[in-house]
Amino acid sequence: MTDAASRHRPCRVRQTAFADASNPVKSGAGGPFGVIRAGDETKPMLRFLTAGESHGPELVATVEGVPAGFDIDLAAINADLARRQKGYGRGGRMLIEKDEVRPVSGIRFGKSLGSPITFIIENRDFKNWVKKMSADPADRGAAEVVTRARPGHADLAGVLKYNLEDIRDVLERASARETTARVAIGGLAKQILLPFGIDVLGYVASIGATEARTNPELSVAELRQITEASQVRVADPDAESKIIAEIDACKKTGDTLGGIVEVVATGLPVGLGSHVQWDRKLDGRLAFALLSLQAAKGVELGLGFTAGRIRGSELHDEIGYDAAGHRFTRHSNNSGGTEGGMSTGEPLRARVAFKPLSTLMRPLRSVDIRSKAEAVGAIERSDVCAIPAAAVIAESVVAFELAAAFLEKFGGDSLIEITRNFKGFLEQVRNY
Ligand SMILES: Cc1cc2nc3c(=O)[nH]c(=O)nc-3n(C[C@H](O)[C@H](O)[C@H](O)COP(=O)(O)O)c2cc1C
Repeated sequence: MTDAASRHRPCRVRQTAFADASNPVKSGAGGPFGVIRAGDETKPMLRFLTAGESHGPELVATVEGVPAGFDIDLAAINADLARRQKGYGRGGRMLIEKDEVRPVSGIRFGKSLGSPITFIIENRDFKNWVKKMSADPADRGAAEVVTRARPGHADLAGVLKYNLEDIRDVLERASARETTARVAIGGLAKQILLPFGIDVLGYVASIGATEARTNPELSVAELRQITEASQVRVADPDAESKIIAEIDACKKTGDTLGGIVEVVATGLPVGLGSHVQWDRKLDGRLAFALLSLQAAKGVELGLGFTAGRIRGSELHDEIGYDAAGHRFTRHSNNSGGTEGGMSTGEPLRARVAFKPLSTLMRPLRSVDIRSKAEAVGAIERSDVCAIPAAAVIAESVVAFELAAAFLEKFGGDSLIEITRNFKGFLEQVRNY
């Protein structure tokens, strides 16, 4: 960097890595979302990339910004991957895979080093796709070209945008197999939150038209125990049997089912995220992360859309003060744990609606992209209902966003430094 360039470099905001101001496009890694914007010199403290095709050899997850000194429990991450694979209604693929992370960077003797952490997750199904997913041009022709676009999938928009002739070139990456990497990353994020008493859980609120009644008095630990024991990750045995019957009925008719999942996070301090700029708002960042999930169509925090239908007097969470505990309290939590783009310190509650899967065994009307003749959507091996898995995936992306916001608030290069910052802030709030 020249002297002149360094003099004109704008202020760095909460930045851990140096930017190359001589090349703004290369240097601008973007705000918390990691979007590359010319001239933007802020970098998120915690960021990730995933790579890999659904039937390629491996998935890759790289997380940068995990500070040093955190215990990394690979077995716990693998347990989350196993949770993602479970659930009544999944297709044959989950019988082939046994997802496990292979760490290749950033961890030594069970502790984070502060360097990028990379996980490889093998696609066991690749052995059936070696030629069909080969990188070698000599293998062109080994796979049948997919030309019948499925309504609701990425197929048609993807081939038009990327000027591709084989829908497989789009669907392989659009596939929710990618979320395996995001669950591994979320598992890591939970281990950043764990020492600070933050717990995150995803479970199912409804599948199709069947709503599960979840007792609001249950603790997260109780909710975890009950929903993890359920085949469809609900806390309501009556709803569970209705949902299983509905999945069976859809399977018979070649149809699919969507649903709504809820993620709750407890133990959050006040003040994660910020009101000062749009892309620092915790609610916005959570919504982006959740809507980026395959098949996600809607996100609500707290009362969500109901908030638009009731009066302010019914909605807003009245404030109290517990003098003995030296803390502000709330009489309700309709906000879902954020106000002004910041955590309030109350439990975070987010809901995500996922549409029914678009690969139908009784396919819908479509067009062959090559001949332009009427056709029906292609049939790929597919799930009937993936909502129990979607709950684990939503939990994972929420955990990541919370860990990212947590490190921005209390950031440091080691667990000990962050702990000091965290305790100091809690003391400051207590003495407010
Ligand atoms: C856990 C999970 C599993 C999924 N499995 C399938 C599947 O088996 N078949 C399918 O057509 N879509 C499946 N999807 C949805 C597609 O990946 C998604 O609809 C597609 O990529 C298009 O993206 P969009 O729905 O976000 O627009 C799944 C989604 C999730 C979250």
